[in-house]
Amino acid sequence: MRPPSPATFRDAAPLRTALAAVLGDGAVDDELLGEAGPLGRPLAVDGLTIGNRFAVHPMEGWDGEPDGRPSAATRRRWRRFGESGAKLVWGGEAFAVSADGRANPNQLHLNDEVDPRPGLEALLDELRSGHRAACGTTDGLVVGLQLTHSGRYARPSDAGAAPRVMFRHPVLDARVGLEDDAAVLADAELERIAERFVRAAAAAREVGFDFVDVKACHGYLLHESLAARRRPGRFGGDLAGRSALLTGIVRAVRDACAGLRVGVRLSATDVFPHGRGPDGVGAPLGLEEHRPYDAGFGVDPDDPLRPDLDEPLRVIGLLRDLGVRMVNVTAGSPYTSPHLQRPAVFPPSDGYASPADPLAFVARHLDVTRRVKAAFPDLVVVGTGYSYLQEWIPHVAQHEVGRGHVDVVGLGRSMLSYPELCRDVLAGRALDAKRICRTFSDCTTGPRHGLPSGCYPLDPEYRARPEAAEIRKLRRRNG
Ligand SMILES: Cc1cc2nc3c(=O)[nH]c(=O)nc-3n(C[C@H](O)[C@H](O)[C@H](O)COP(=O)(O)O)c2cc1C
Ligand code: SF4
Repeated sequence: MRPPSPATFRDAAPLRTALAAVLGDGAVDDELLGEAGPLGRPLAVDGLTIGNRFAVHPMEGWDGEPDGRPSAATRRRWRRFGESGAKLVWGGEAFAVSADGRANPNQLHLNDEVDPRPGLEALLDELRSGHRAACGTTDGLVVGLQLTHSGRYARPSDAGAAPRVMFRHPVLDARVGLEDDAAVLADAELERIAERFVRAAAAAREVGFDFVDVKACHGYLLHESLAARRRPGRFGGDLAGRSALLTGIVRAVRDACAGLRVGVRLSATDVFPHGRGPDGVGAPLGLEEHRPYDAGFGVDPDDPLRPDLDEPLRVIGLLRDLGVRMVNVTAGSPYTSPHLQRPAVFPPSDGYASPADPLAFVARHLDVTRRVKAAFPDLVVVGTGYSYLQEWIPHVAQHEVGRGHVDVVGLGRSMLSYPELCRDVLAGRALDAKRICRTFSDCTTGPRHGLPSGCYPLDPEYRARPEAAEIRKLRRRNG
């Protein structure tokens, strides 16, 4: 049986109880203060001012042109991100630094045959113009571009997966069909990838992005590098080796791109890879044979269902020493722990039912983010995992920012269905219940079947598309 969705809660009591089970406190404000409260307070960082405490998380659409440039659908999404009124746009979406580093054939990417700048400039213009139209000004708007290499989850063409990995993984190799060492990236290849991060960052700076996010989360290359204990040589082994690729890229970008700020989105905790158990519920399949588990990052090897933040905090310390001032804290991976990475009422078609009340995983996000913020009060910390809260997003967001547990509340899926949510909260208006993301997961199911992402149930433009019916069928089949 599905646990009750927060949308059904008539008051805050059940939410408080569920969050307190992990956090020790209820994390819910009763009275919303709008712009006059913590969520409306500007924040200074690295010579910039973020005008309020909402961020739009990066959200890929699987809808770029095959040559790496944005399409009309991509521009529309970025415009809507601008219209949201959130003053921090963390990355827009994952932009691959090479064609073979794409996670899908339609991912935006640095293509050696195409000047990336006009496409990136068009996205930035669209976003800023949407923001200006909605808010009257772009003052306090801070926009970054997320740079990525998909590593193990590279799928650059319709021919299928083409994983490039940091190390042979005891559990995940079988899942991505990796049979021999050919997919393991050599040190020299990693150096070339690092150079491409710098090239992409330089293009972002030229067109006027305020910062780049060097993406180290969700199972992609720079996240996997942090777990590469089994890799010999300079980019593996101890924490200094495992973090060398990430820190080397950050250092190189800062050296080459004066004035461009660098942020990092980090999966600060993870969990042993899950899969669909015989009853359709997510389970850590094979955990006992792989304990102690040495192939994760931010998990306790002896009990890899529990966070261990020792190494993630040390990595954040290294990044701070390199001048990183903004960290976006996330958790898990959409491939191996979607229940943690994006808690949902309904799983995507390739997923599984949540192994526990999704609120426990929302609370895990809040908890880990609190611990990062407590360890690094001088950094701007962005939090994740709020969309599942639905009607209660503003209550929890205001609580966490108000108590100093997080600086900026990032929203992912809710920005596809209802970008104006941020403006409505700040203006003190009631939320539009018909547009709140209900975590149907159709925006994930679509891409899993080669279709573009979008909010098919709630965004009229996507609801009217022919793919919407196909996705509804897939959802029904999945139960
Ligand atoms: C359709 C879709 C696309 C996403 N694309 C990205 C991406 O490009 N980069 C990234 O770091 N996270 C991506 N994410 C993860 C979100 O940024 C966010 O972490 C996640 O949805 C949890 O936040 P939420 O509960 O507010 O949705 C994506 C998620 C979805 C559903
Ligand atoms: S499809 Fe729409 S309602 Fe469903 S999870 Fe995605 S954004 Fe939310």
